[in-house]
Amino acid sequence: MNKDDVMNVLSTIKYPGYSKSITDFKVVKDVEINGNTVDLLLNLGTADDKKRKIIYDEIREKLGEKGLEVKISTVQEKGTTVEQKHYVSSAKKRIAILSAKGGVGKSTFAVSLAIAMSKMGKKVGLFDADVHGPDVPRMLGLQKPARADKEKNLILPNEREGIYSMSLGYVVDPETPVIWKGAMVSKAIVELLQFTAWPEMDYFIVDLPPGTGDAALSINQNMDLDGAIIVTTPNSLAIMDAARATSYYNQLGTKVIGFVENSGYFVCDECGEKSYPFGNTEPIAIETQLKVPCLGVLPFEPKVEEAADDGNLFSALDTEFFKVMASIAEKIESELSN
Ligand SMILES: Nc1ncnc2c1ncn2[C@@H]1O[C@H](COP(=O)(O)OP(=O)(O)OP(=O)(O)O)[C@@H](O)[C@H]1O
Ligand SMILES: [Mg+2]
Repeated sequence: MNKDDVMNVLSTIKYPGYSKSITDFKVVKDVEINGNTVDLLLNLGTADDKKRKIIYDEIREKLGEKGLEVKISTVQEKGTTVEQKHYVSSAKKRIAILSAKGGVGKSTFAVSLAIAMSKMGKKVGLFDADVHGPDVPRMLGLQKPARADKEKNLILPNEREGIYSMSLGYVVDPETPVIWKGAMVSKAIVELLQFTAWPEMDYFIVDLPPGTGDAALSINQNMDLDGAIIVTTPNSLAIMDAARATSYYNQLGTKVIGFVENSGYFVCDECGEKSYPFGNTEPIAIETQLKVPCLGVLPFEPKVEEAADDGNLFSALDTEFFKVMASIAEKIESELSN
């Protein structure tokens, strides 16, 4: 039996109390086969020992029938003990955009990816998990407060060109400074996720604040992420930090799909010459350090910066930046459909 065969068997096991399977809920984080032994890494945050036992027993029984001996460990034993939640299950795929460093272009990338995917005909959700400095409303040109569905007691996401977004910037007055401490950051994120009337979506993209702090952990614990994408600039310090962010996500049991090199080069408008103002590390060297594939190299493009600031990234669709974005969106799609 290979990994796919094992996953197929596991996909027949229902999560206790649900009609979906443990693989639908992304409980299975890793499968390693050595001869007749299979090592499974599960993300099982449930505090209910009975549920845990039902799952373990069924796994052992079903894989035992195939002649395999099963060893099970959990992500929780390796660190976190909080119960995993499954918010935003109305999206087919959920992706987090992260970086170790601030200002490398995560929000620009997250919003542009949403645009590129919506141009591919996908229905996209975009969640701004940066409660300290929500940038999604400005970049989408949607600085209007979110409306409420009073009957259902839910907030409605703002919509533009097939992109459904939610941000703290839609619910609090942007002029009011708010001081958020760790626990409050998580609470604000969970409430925004939970009380938004999310439609059915193909992709749900989360724009995280920089680093591996409360917001990143909270997103991990409250939805089943299908993958994470690291954004980095091509200078060696940023890359070292990106490697740390990658291993943090791996430890949490979330697959890092790959990285994107932002501002990888600049093409002079007048002479057409290519230069490397933000560093010139080859993607292959970054791949070696991060041990995940490069999904694309985005140029530094002043028109993109201007468009992002003016809340009209849609007006930059004719740039090379968006050509590369389209190919990145396709790579992500093919990676996640496997
Ligand atoms: N490829 C690019 N070409 C031109 N400008 C860019 C590019 N990528 C990002 N920028 C600009 O760089 C600035 C920082 O980008 P952005 O806000 O997306 O970074 P961030 O990683 O989300 O920052 P933070 O860590 O503060 O959330 C913005 O003004 C943005 O418009
Ligand atoms: Mg940002």
